[in-house]
Amino acid sequence: MKITYLGHASLSIEVANKNIIVDPFISGNELAKNVDIDSLKADYILVTHAHEDHILDVESIAKRTGAKVVSNFEIVNHFGNLGIEGHPMNHGGTWQFDFGKVTYTNAIHSSSFPDGSYGGQPGGFILETEEGNIYIAGDTALTMDMKTIPMQTKLDLAILPIGDNFTMGIESAVIASDFVECDKVLAYHYDTFGYIEIDHKNAISTFNIKGKELILLEIGTYLEL
Ligand code: NI
Ligand code: MN
Repeated sequence: MKITYLGHASLSIEVANKNIIVDPFISGNELAKNVDIDSLKADYILVTHAHEDHILDVESIAKRTGAKVVSNFEIVNHFGNLGIEGHPMNHGGTWQFDFGKVTYTNAIHSSSFPDGSYGGQPGGFILETEEGNIYIAGDTALTMDMKTIPMQTKLDLAILPIGDNFTMGIESAVIASDFVECDKVLAYHYDTFGYIEIDHKNAISTFNIKGKELILLEIGTYLEL
Protein backbone atom coordinates (compact mmCIF):
# COMPACT_ATOMS: atom_id res chain seq x y z
CA MET A 1 0.00 0.00 0.00
CA LYS A 2 1.31 3.40 -1.03
CA ILE A 3 -0.07 6.45 0.77
CA THR A 4 0.68 9.89 -0.70
CA TYR A 5 0.00 13.04 1.30
CA LEU A 6 -1.75 15.68 -0.79
CA GLY A 7 -1.90 18.30 1.96
CA HIS A 8 -4.47 19.09 4.68
CA ALA A 9 -6.60 15.91 5.06
CA SER A 10 -6.16 14.79 1.45
CA LEU A 11 -4.57 11.47 0.64
CA SER A 12 -4.03 9.28 -2.38
CA ILE A 13 -3.84 5.56 -1.64
CA GLU A 14 -2.74 2.84 -4.05
CA VAL A 15 -3.77 -0.62 -2.97
CA ALA A 16 -4.58 -3.81 -4.88
CA ASN A 17 -4.05 -1.93 -8.16
CA LYS A 18 -6.81 0.52 -7.25
CA ASN A 19 -6.49 4.24 -6.59
CA ILE A 20 -8.34 5.82 -3.71
CA ILE A 21 -8.48 9.55 -3.03
CA VAL A 22 -9.48 10.69 0.46
CA ASP A 23 -11.07 14.10 1.21
CA PRO A 24 -9.66 16.04 -1.75
CA PHE A 25 -9.04 19.69 -0.87
CA ILE A 26 -6.22 20.61 -3.21
CA SER A 27 -7.22 23.47 -5.52
CA GLY A 28 -8.06 25.59 -2.46
CA ASN A 29 -4.85 24.81 -0.58
CA GLU A 30 -1.98 27.17 -1.33
CA LEU A 31 0.42 24.70 0.37
CA ALA A 32 -0.58 22.01 -2.17
CA LYS A 33 -0.08 24.16 -5.27
CA ASN A 34 2.54 21.75 -6.65
CA VAL A 35 0.10 18.82 -6.67
CA ASP A 36 -1.15 18.26 -10.22
CA ILE A 37 -4.78 17.59 -9.53
CA ASP A 38 -5.49 16.61 -13.15
CA SER A 39 -3.01 13.74 -13.03
CA LEU A 40 -4.52 12.13 -9.91
CA LYS A 41 -5.95 8.69 -10.59
CA ALA A 42 -9.09 7.64 -8.77
CA ASP A 43 -11.32 4.58 -8.72
CA TYR A 44 -12.88 5.67 -5.42
CA ILE A 45 -13.12 8.91 -3.46
CA LEU A 46 -13.60 8.43 0.27
CA VAL A 47 -15.22 11.40 1.98
CA THR A 48 -15.27 11.63 5.79
CA HIS A 49 -17.67 14.59 6.10
CA ALA A 50 -19.19 17.48 4.16
CA HIS A 51 -17.00 20.44 5.18
CA GLU A 52 -15.47 22.36 2.30
CA ASP A 53 -11.91 21.51 3.34
CA HIS A 54 -12.78 17.84 2.65
CA ILE A 55 -15.04 17.95 -0.43
CA LEU A 56 -13.83 20.91 -2.52
CA ASP A 57 -12.38 18.82 -5.37
CA VAL A 58 -14.64 15.75 -5.16
CA GLU A 59 -16.89 16.80 -8.05
CA SER A 60 -14.10 17.66 -10.50
CA ILE A 61 -12.06 14.52 -9.75
CA ALA A 62 -15.13 12.25 -9.87
CA LYS A 63 -16.33 13.72 -13.18
CA ARG A 64 -12.88 13.44 -14.78
CA THR A 65 -12.11 9.91 -13.56
CA GLY A 66 -15.54 8.31 -13.09
CA ALA A 67 -14.56 7.48 -9.51
CA LYS A 68 -17.24 6.32 -7.10
CA VAL A 69 -17.83 8.38 -3.95
CA VAL A 70 -17.83 6.35 -0.72
CA SER A 71 -19.25 8.24 2.23
CA ASN A 72 -22.25 8.59 4.48
CA PHE A 73 -25.71 8.36 2.93
CA GLU A 74 -26.30 12.13 2.81
CA ILE A 75 -23.00 12.96 1.10
CA VAL A 76 -23.41 10.18 -1.46
CA ASN A 77 -26.94 11.50 -2.16
CA HIS A 78 -25.59 15.04 -2.60
CA PHE A 79 -23.05 13.93 -5.19
CA GLY A 80 -25.60 11.55 -6.75
CA ASN A 81 -27.72 14.62 -7.52
CA LEU A 82 -24.71 15.96 -9.47
CA GLY A 83 -24.59 12.77 -11.54
CA ILE A 84 -21.76 11.12 -9.60
CA GLU A 85 -21.89 7.45 -8.70
CA GLY A 86 -21.55 6.49 -5.08
CA HIS A 87 -21.66 3.87 -2.39
CA PRO A 88 -23.58 5.01 0.73
CA MET A 89 -22.57 3.82 4.18
CA ASN A 90 -23.28 4.71 7.77
CA HIS A 91 -21.53 4.29 11.10
CA GLY A 92 -20.41 0.81 12.02
CA GLY A 93 -21.15 -0.58 8.59
CA THR A 94 -18.56 -2.54 6.60
CA TRP A 95 -18.51 -3.30 2.88
CA GLN A 96 -16.18 -5.55 0.90
CA PHE A 97 -14.82 -3.54 -2.04
CA ASP A 98 -12.51 -4.93 -4.74
CA PHE A 99 -9.44 -3.50 -2.91
CA GLY A 100 -10.46 -4.53 0.61
CA LYS A 101 -12.95 -4.00 3.40
CA VAL A 102 -14.09 -0.52 4.41
CA THR A 103 -15.78 0.38 7.69
CA TYR A 104 -17.30 3.82 8.32
CA THR A 105 -16.37 4.78 11.88
CA ASN A 106 -17.68 7.29 14.41
CA ALA A 107 -16.18 10.75 14.68
CA ILE A 108 -17.05 13.62 16.98
CA HIS A 109 -17.25 16.71 14.78
CA SER A 110 -19.89 18.36 12.58
CA SER A 111 -20.76 17.89 8.90
CA SER A 112 -22.61 20.63 7.01
CA PHE A 113 -22.09 21.39 3.32
CA PRO A 114 -20.62 24.81 2.45
CA ASP A 115 -24.17 26.15 1.85
CA GLY A 116 -25.19 25.08 5.36
CA SER A 117 -27.27 22.07 4.27
CA TYR A 118 -27.14 18.81 6.21
CA GLY A 119 -24.18 16.56 5.46
CA GLY A 120 -25.10 13.64 7.70
CA GLN A 121 -22.94 12.67 10.64
CA PRO A 122 -19.16 12.90 10.26
CA GLY A 123 -17.04 9.76 10.22
CA GLY A 124 -13.74 8.12 9.52
CA PHE A 125 -12.70 4.94 7.73
CA ILE A 126 -10.95 1.68 8.48
CA LEU A 127 -9.43 0.01 5.42
CA GLU A 128 -8.56 -3.67 5.79
CA THR A 129 -6.56 -4.94 2.83
CA GLU A 130 -4.05 -7.65 1.95
CA GLU A 131 -1.41 -4.89 1.97
CA GLY A 132 -2.20 -3.67 5.49
CA ASN A 133 -4.88 -2.20 7.71
CA ILE A 134 -5.21 1.53 8.24
CA TYR A 135 -7.47 3.87 10.19
CA ILE A 136 -8.28 7.26 8.72
CA ALA A 137 -9.82 9.14 11.63
CA GLY A 138 -11.34 12.09 9.77
CA ASP A 139 -11.91 15.32 11.65
CA THR A 140 -12.60 14.22 15.19
CA ALA A 141 -12.04 14.75 18.86
CA LEU A 142 -10.41 12.02 20.87
CA THR A 143 -13.25 9.54 21.42
CA MET A 144 -13.75 6.51 23.64
CA ASP A 145 -15.19 4.80 20.55
CA MET A 146 -11.63 4.52 19.23
CA LYS A 147 -11.09 1.81 21.86
CA THR A 148 -13.44 -0.49 19.95
CA ILE A 149 -11.26 -0.43 16.82
CA PRO A 150 -8.52 -2.81 18.04
CA MET A 151 -11.20 -5.21 19.26
CA GLN A 152 -11.96 -5.81 15.57
CA THR A 153 -8.84 -4.84 13.62
CA LYS A 154 -5.08 -4.98 14.07
CA LEU A 155 -3.92 -1.68 12.58
CA ASP A 156 -0.62 -1.11 10.76
CA LEU A 157 -1.05 2.66 10.57
CA ALA A 158 -3.33 5.28 12.12
CA ILE A 159 -3.89 8.53 10.24
CA LEU A 160 -4.88 11.13 12.81
CA PRO A 161 -5.62 14.87 12.78
CA ILE A 162 -3.17 16.75 15.00
CA GLY A 163 -3.82 20.42 14.20
CA ASP A 164 -5.97 21.11 17.27
CA ASN A 165 -8.71 23.79 17.44
CA PHE A 166 -11.11 22.05 14.96
CA THR A 167 -9.97 18.50 15.83
CA MET A 168 -7.85 16.83 18.45
CA GLY A 169 -4.34 18.14 18.96
CA ILE A 170 -1.04 16.40 19.52
CA GLU A 171 -1.54 15.38 23.17
CA SER A 172 -4.94 13.87 22.35
CA ALA A 173 -3.54 12.14 19.28
CA VAL A 174 -0.98 10.38 21.48
CA ILE A 175 -3.86 9.02 23.58
CA ALA A 176 -5.80 8.14 20.42
CA SER A 177 -2.87 6.05 19.25
CA ASP A 178 -3.06 4.19 22.60
CA PHE A 179 -6.81 3.68 22.15
CA VAL A 180 -6.45 2.25 18.62
CA GLU A 181 -3.34 0.27 19.69
CA CYS A 182 -1.16 1.54 16.87
CA ASP A 183 2.15 3.28 17.57
CA LYS A 184 2.75 4.30 13.96
CA VAL A 185 0.86 7.48 13.15
CA LEU A 186 0.66 9.58 10.00
CA ALA A 187 -0.38 13.13 10.90
CA TYR A 188 -2.82 15.21 8.88
CA HIS A 189 -5.12 18.24 9.20
CA TYR A 190 -2.38 20.66 10.31
CA ASP A 191 -0.65 23.83 9.04
CA THR A 192 -3.24 24.64 6.33
CA PHE A 193 -4.77 27.61 8.16
CA GLY A 194 -3.58 29.86 10.99
CA TYR A 195 -5.75 28.05 13.55
CA ILE A 196 -4.02 24.72 12.98
CA GLU A 197 -0.35 25.60 12.52
CA ILE A 198 1.85 23.32 14.60
CA ASP A 199 5.44 23.03 15.76
CA HIS A 200 6.67 19.97 13.84
CA LYS A 201 9.64 19.20 16.10
CA ASN A 202 7.51 19.36 19.22
CA ALA A 203 4.83 17.15 17.65
CA ILE A 204 7.36 14.47 16.70
CA SER A 205 9.12 14.53 20.07
CA THR A 206 5.81 14.36 21.97
CA PHE A 207 5.20 11.03 20.20
CA ASN A 208 8.80 9.83 20.51
CA ILE A 209 8.82 10.35 24.30
CA LYS A 210 5.95 7.83 24.47
CA GLY A 211 7.82 5.37 22.26
CA LYS A 212 5.64 6.16 19.25
CA GLU A 213 6.38 7.23 15.69
CA LEU A 214 4.73 10.35 14.22
CA ILE A 215 5.21 10.80 10.48
CA LEU A 216 4.86 14.26 8.93
CA LEU A 217 5.04 13.84 5.16
CA GLU A 218 6.00 16.69 2.85
CA ILE A 219 3.07 17.39 0.53
CA GLY A 220 3.38 15.20 -2.57
CA THR A 221 5.54 12.55 -0.87
CA TYR A 222 4.48 9.09 0.22
CA LEU A 223 5.03 6.23 2.61
CA GLU A 224 4.66 2.53 1.89
CA LEU A 225 3.24 -0.20 4.09
NI1 NI B 1 -14.38 19.43 9.36
MN1 MN C 1 -11.49 19.85 8.35
